[in-house]
Amino acid sequence: MNLSELNKVATAMVAPGRGILAADESTGTIKKRFDALGVESTTDNRRDYREMLFRSTDAMAIYISGVILFDETIRQSAMDGTPLVKLIEKAGSLPGIKVDKGTKPIPFCPGEVVTEGLDGLRERLVEYRGLGARFAKWRAVIDIGQEHGLPSHTCVMGNAHALARYAALCQDELIVPIVEPEVLMDGDHDIDRCVEVTSWVLKETFHQLFYNRVALEGMVLKPNMAVPGKKSPKRASVEEVAEKTVRMLRNCVPAAVPGIAFLSGGQSDEEATAHLDAMNRIGNLPWRLTFSYGRALQAAPQKAWSGKAENVAAAQRAFNHRAMMNGLATLGQWKADLERKAA
Ligand code: 13P
Repeated sequence: MNLSELNKVATAMVAPGRGILAADESTGTIKKRFDALGVESTTDNRRDYREMLFRSTDAMAIYISGVILFDETIRQSAMDGTPLVKLIEKAGSLPGIKVDKGTKPIPFCPGEVVTEGLDGLRERLVEYRGLGARFAKWRAVIDIGQEHGLPSHTCVMGNAHALARYAALCQDELIVPIVEPEVLMDGDHDIDRCVEVTSWVLKETFHQLFYNRVALEGMVLKPNMAVPGKKSPKRASVEEVAEKTVRMLRNCVPAAVPGIAFLSGGQSDEEATAHLDAMNRIGNLPWRLTFSYGRALQAAPQKAWSGKAENVAAAQRAFNHRAMMNGLATLGQWKADLERKAA
């Protein structure tokens, strides 16, 4: 294993002031986003939209350390024939690739899923590396559910094991794995239940990473924050989310991991930024804390774009703004005033 190369890439992914753009929506998910805007989800529209993001010069050069792509996008070229991967590289950012194949129901575990995609993964990683991918992503999904019985041991163990096998294969092919065990914020559980379940999931994940000989210095963790379920009547302040998330991570994530890049998971744009900022203000942390946001970076530019070429400049302004706000949050230097000024 070339750990120094893996560590160099992982460190660049979580460099101060920068974070990751998750633009790896599957064809089904991007269609849902486009449907909401009244835009038809054609190959060309998906290309135009993503080209708009990757040509947002300020965001890409200053705040976005890497971009997670979907299989279709890593093979696509911009309108002028330049491969999209080259646009990302030219901007000074790293191309990455989602390699999991989505979730499937787990037998005898109603309501629970396991992420698939290990079959043929080594061969796909070799191909993706040839296409320019320097890092990869695999997302496991854990639902806390309405009843206290969830998640099951089967679900937590199965997903942690698959994540670790994926991560080992990535490192063996000189690709930095983003290890993403996402505990969903659906449901009415409170923040402490989220901490309890996420801690279990993280501990099991690191256990499996150890058994699969994954080098922690050559990976990035992508967890959820500690937040109450969307339907919980007990809301949590920004400070409570920050304190409980940092405490949970200190208890579960070894210091050898270079960085933790959160998913936004359905938080509003500003919440996702405020939470990250508050955590970085706590300071004195063993790993870098940054973002790997999908929705919280793209909702505003998507709306501004709405499928029209004449809106590209406005959409790029919206994307630059969110990227800058989150870049500042990685340094604990974001202020709510900066949002108002831009509005
Ligand atoms: P969200 O930030 O929209 O949760 O997406 C991040 C991601 O990549 C989920 O796998």
